[in-house]
Amino acid sequence: MERVSRRDFLKTTVVGGAVIALDSAVLAPHVNADAPDLKTIGECKKVTVTCVSEVGWWDTKVLLADLNKAGGPKDAEQWTSEWTPSNAAGSCTLIEVEALDGSKRKFLVDTGWDAAYMDKRFKATGVDRMLKNGEIDFLYVTHEHLDHFWGLAATLQYKPDIKIIIPSTFQPPAFQFIEGTDFPKAHARNTIKHQGELMKLQIGKMTKLMDGVASVGFDLPIILKIRGEQSLYFNVKDKGLILCTGCCHQNVITLADYAVNTLNAKGKLHALYGGLHIAPFGPLSDEGRGWIEKLGSYGFIRIACNHCTGVPAVQKMIELGYPVVRGSGKDGSQSDLYIGNGDAVSFG
Ligand SMILES: [Fe+2]
Ligand SMILES: [Fe+2]
Repeated sequence: MERVSRRDFLKTTVVGGAVIALDSAVLAPHVNADAPDLKTIGECKKVTVTCVSEVGWWDTKVLLADLNKAGGPKDAEQWTSEWTPSNAAGSCTLIEVEALDGSKRKFLVDTGWDAAYMDKRFKATGVDRMLKNGEIDFLYVTHEHLDHFWGLAATLQYKPDIKIIIPSTFQPPAFQFIEGTDFPKAHARNTIKHQGELMKLQIGKMTKLMDGVASVGFDLPIILKIRGEQSLYFNVKDKGLILCTGCCHQNVITLADYAVNTLNAKGKLHALYGGLHIAPFGPLSDEGRGWIEKLGSYGFIRIACNHCTGVPAVQKMIELGYPVVRGSGKDGSQSDLYIGNGDAVSFG
């Protein structure tokens, strides 16, 4: 066991050394304003969100057993730990933004975990065809976690030169992965070298991606020894802000407070979409209950949460009368209480 760990350590060290040179990502200019606001973001007409997959993993017990074997929540490291391959699924969302002039652009938010599973989800939702046709402008990766990023080959097989947008906190193994690498112990494999532009967004800053769409990077240490998550803020004309997350490790209050305090958008928060990381592994904690109670004070008209929000958290929101958008519960999603695999929702 010790010998295996040492081999992995040496491999990572070598990989890390090589990767520093591989980090040729372009750092995007952030919004250079002391107080960015809704005007800085601009407006779009409509946002349509299709949940390609919200199932991060199939069995939480298996995931927690792998996590504990890897050293537990405090010490486990995702790239050098062993994850049960048959438990991998992944989170991925297709976004279509309609501009004020009626033109439409599409992009992906995250690319799941298991590439074979993601390919099935791509085929079921038409994403495979859209990638091949060049209809999808870029892949926006919210954070480095396995269930959002390790299915990269599913995207690259159809469009190896797609533009990829990542947070500036990505670590050396993540760059190596984008270049095409196998991390055998972790069962993380990307056989297709990325050939397109790689853009880093500054953590702690806001970056405008297009009219009505901005990304904000939140700086924090996250479980499995990664750092930083970026989330999307859409400003839809006559509706307000749509907040879109991967896992929301920064927590939903931090996400919403950024809109209220930094963007000065109090009373203009229209909807939420994505994982809210409230009860990802089971029962609702006191802290999670507190977040849910506070969530009611922002005035969201629709809450389309899924993924790591957790069923008990969604049930609590429904119990409190929150406007939770229901789903179909099909194609592997655990429940029809929330937007699931293959379900779509439009704002605007
Ligand atoms: Fe996740
Ligand atoms: Fe995550």
